[in-house]
Amino acid sequence: MQPSNSVVGVGQSPEAIRNREGQLSPFEWYAEMRREAPVHFDEQREMWDVFRYEDVKHVLKDHDAFTANRAFGADESAGSGDDMPMLQTMITTDPPEHDRLRGFVNDRFQPGAVREYQPQVEEMTKNLLNDLPDEGTFDFVDEFSIPLPVIVIAELLGIPDDRRDQFREWSNALVARPEDDTSEEIQRVQREQERAQKEMGRYFATLLAERQGGNGDDLITLAANTEALNRGERIGFCMLLLLAGNITTTNLLTNAIWAFEAHGVTDAVRTGEVDRQLAIEEVLRYRSPIQSLKRIATKDVELNNQQVQAGDVVTLWLGAANRDPEIFDAPETFRPERHPNRHIAFGTGVHFCLGAHLARMEADIALNYLLEHFERLDADLSELQPLNFLHGLESLPCEVRRTA
Ligand code: HEM
Repeated sequence: MQPSNSVVGVGQSPEAIRNREGQLSPFEWYAEMRREAPVHFDEQREMWDVFRYEDVKHVLKDHDAFTANRAFGADESAGSGDDMPMLQTMITTDPPEHDRLRGFVNDRFQPGAVREYQPQVEEMTKNLLNDLPDEGTFDFVDEFSIPLPVIVIAELLGIPDDRRDQFREWSNALVARPEDDTSEEIQRVQREQERAQKEMGRYFATLLAERQGGNGDDLITLAANTEALNRGERIGFCMLLLLAGNITTTNLLTNAIWAFEAHGVTDAVRTGEVDRQLAIEEVLRYRSPIQSLKRIATKDVELNNQQVQAGDVVTLWLGAANRDPEIFDAPETFRPERHPNRHIAFGTGVHFCLGAHLARMEADIALNYLLEHFERLDADLSELQPLNFLHGLESLPCEVRRTA
């Protein structure tokens, strides 16, 4: 197994969901696999796929038997290239190291602390809405759901305003995927990712050095001054936050508008007839922004009657777990009022999403202001672009009219 350069742990989808049809709807495949082969070894990808809720949850919680360290078992010398060291971050580290890498910042993402950012997030949302047309068509993805999370994270990190466009370019490059399967195109995308990662790393290193000894309350200053992390880990932390928080939240916002429109509940959410926060939870379950996570077995272990061996890679299908009929009534139905909703779109166990409260608050504020701002919002669902591997839409044209 080659270690991955990426600082976010996102799985590659098997062929079954990579074609256009499948990407729009992997859900039939999930249902079949949950029924017929819930823990299945895919010979082609040489890895396990896990589909049922209880099994996915079990693996995520058992960090002794299933490591998040994607370099586990890899040849130490194999790797990432000389000036591209693997950056150690919480997301690819197991306890007890994980506690050190997360502990210094955990408090900043608890509900009370996140609520303090509320006025800033409201302000940023309003500014973005003011730049949209009063009437006409705009692309919801390009003009709203991509920029908002970038601006929010940049604000939390304390990135100067004049570098935000650069940030957006870096974060886009890091999650870009090849336009086709040719090796030239794959290499082009890899080169772009390496470039963006290097540039970003250098930029964070400079900011971290500048803020050492400083007393700002931004997260770069916090990272620069904690004893808990070394230099490389501080850079890794900044990059992880930017990457983990952006495209995921973009996809939540896009999937929310898509789902509200496709299921005819936009007006009901606008008027409060449907509870916005419950509806957001249902979007997370029904169209989980991250469809899969990876772990590697550290020892031979049995999983739902299958023998997984030490070193085997396991793909955990959150999107399939979140539609498991053992857990959810009518799992294939979008029910915006669903409650309780035990989805695991933010993962579970020690790696439970650090930014979950922030993402929920951001989505709540964004959708509230957006629907208040536009009395009319019609998304064009006729030509949906394929969902990308992180499960969002590449564009979502919306025709709008501003509220008088
Ligand atoms: C971890 C999903 C937003 C930061 C995770 C994991 C998931 C996830 C599934 C678990 C990864 C694993 O177990 O390997 C999401 C979704 C989001 C979202 C669906 C939006 C809807 C955010 C935001 C931030 C963030 C806004 C940052 C401010 C992180 C970090 C981790 C993480 C740092 C690693 C936690 C750890 O390893 O202890 N996220 N995330 N996420 N997320 Fe999020």
